[in-house]
Amino acid sequence: MDKLIIEGGQPLAGRVRISGAKNAALPLMAAAILPEEPLKLTNLPALGDLLTMAKLLRFMGGRVSLGGSRLIDENQAELDLTGLNRPEAPHEMVKTMRASALVLGPLLARLGRAKVSMPGGCAIGVRPIDLHLKALRAMGAVFDLSGGDIVARTGRGGLKGAEIRFDTVTVTGTENLMMAAVLAKGRTVIANAAREPEVTDTAQALLAMGAKIEGLDTDVLTIDGVSSLSGTSYRVMPDRIEAGTFMAAVALAGGEIILEDFPHDALATVVAKFRETGLDITPIGTDLNVKARESLWASDVTTQTYPGFPTDMQAQFMAMMTAAQGTSLITETIFENRFMHVSELRRLGADITLEGRTAVVKGVPTLSGAPLTASDLRASAGLVLAALAARGESQLLRVYHLDRGYEGLDRKLNNLGAVIRRVRA
Ligand code: EPZ
Repeated sequence: MDKLIIEGGQPLAGRVRISGAKNAALPLMAAAILPEEPLKLTNLPALGDLLTMAKLLRFMGGRVSLGGSRLIDENQAELDLTGLNRPEAPHEMVKTMRASALVLGPLLARLGRAKVSMPGGCAIGVRPIDLHLKALRAMGAVFDLSGGDIVARTGRGGLKGAEIRFDTVTVTGTENLMMAAVLAKGRTVIANAAREPEVTDTAQALLAMGAKIEGLDTDVLTIDGVSSLSGTSYRVMPDRIEAGTFMAAVALAGGEIILEDFPHDALATVVAKFRETGLDITPIGTDLNVKARESLWASDVTTQTYPGFPTDMQAQFMAMMTAAQGTSLITETIFENRFMHVSELRRLGADITLEGRTAVVKGVPTLSGAPLTASDLRASAGLVLAALAARGESQLLRVYHLDRGYEGLDRKLNNLGAVIRRVRA
């Protein structure tokens, strides 16, 4: 198990290329189950969760070749699931990555049967998939729960189009249902659909394969099933959460950097909020220039579904506010337990009080380095950022949480002037 040793106090300078979006790449890899030809994906980030998804698709009988001609900066994969013969996602794979549930919709659409281990909760919450199952039932799927596995099948004739309304906006629920509906018989309407850019990215790839989907970027998706889909080559959108994480890094470490391949539209709310805290932010074509000023100002945030402030940026924003002038109120409305980073930030000297789903963050003049333990992906990113601003050395244990969702965050930060050593713990 690796750990990071982070020397605080180094301002950042230079350019960093934003990698492909993890939360678009995962549904897109699951979508490879649908067409009768291989799916090629480019601009894939090289990170843990995608390797897990590749392993799962191979387990099912697919052929997944990761890495193109230029492994380092042109991450690509050819996914050929035409040989799919085992529509199963076993516990040992699902337990490390909840997003494995994304194969359920495509497997039912393609084969009419699936056995997927019920995803467990994780550090940030129970994270059930009841809404996925309820919506798939409306399309004719039948589920039994046996030995922790969801054993799913469709009636004769496969999935049928249905009118679906999600009680709660669910990102992977919307993606699962969209992928189930593209090959179903008839029309499916998904109301209260998630509008996250990664949902739209998945829909764009399905359209390129010949699917019929209307309402992209809105909360009502209308899908007319087709009899088959063809292969295509699709470039994954840039990762808006990685991009937001680098903006927060400059806010805390100081300095000025350029983010290349920046997803401007997808981060409009985050950019507006970060400007309020005193960051100088200037779009330059497909890039973005971010410059820290003398001081960081406190600002309030309530996480919301897109296009609101994303929950996946909450920990990084809280890290910023620990060093800001004034008091910030940060309210988490999406997950019930996404404040695991609070106790670790306090170890650096942060002044944070929890009142239910709101964290009251009083900025302090200095943070001091300390040993830290990561609990979940975005919490660990927030801790790395805070350590960049802290005086002296910090250590971050359980770095595998970070590696699941960031393509070499420490390497990229070091290329910008940070001093972070990765050692085997
Ligand atoms: C996706 O998770 C992302 N993961 C998460 O990113 C992200 O935090 C989340 O959306 C919210 O934006 C991927 O896309 C792979 P939800 P997902 O279903 O789809 C409840 C990261 O850091 N709910 O939108 O699992 C749920 O408990 C990860 O990259 C049900 O109750 O999230 C939560 O409170 C973390 N029943 C809320 O809805 C269901 O059937 C939103 O969850 C489904 C969800």
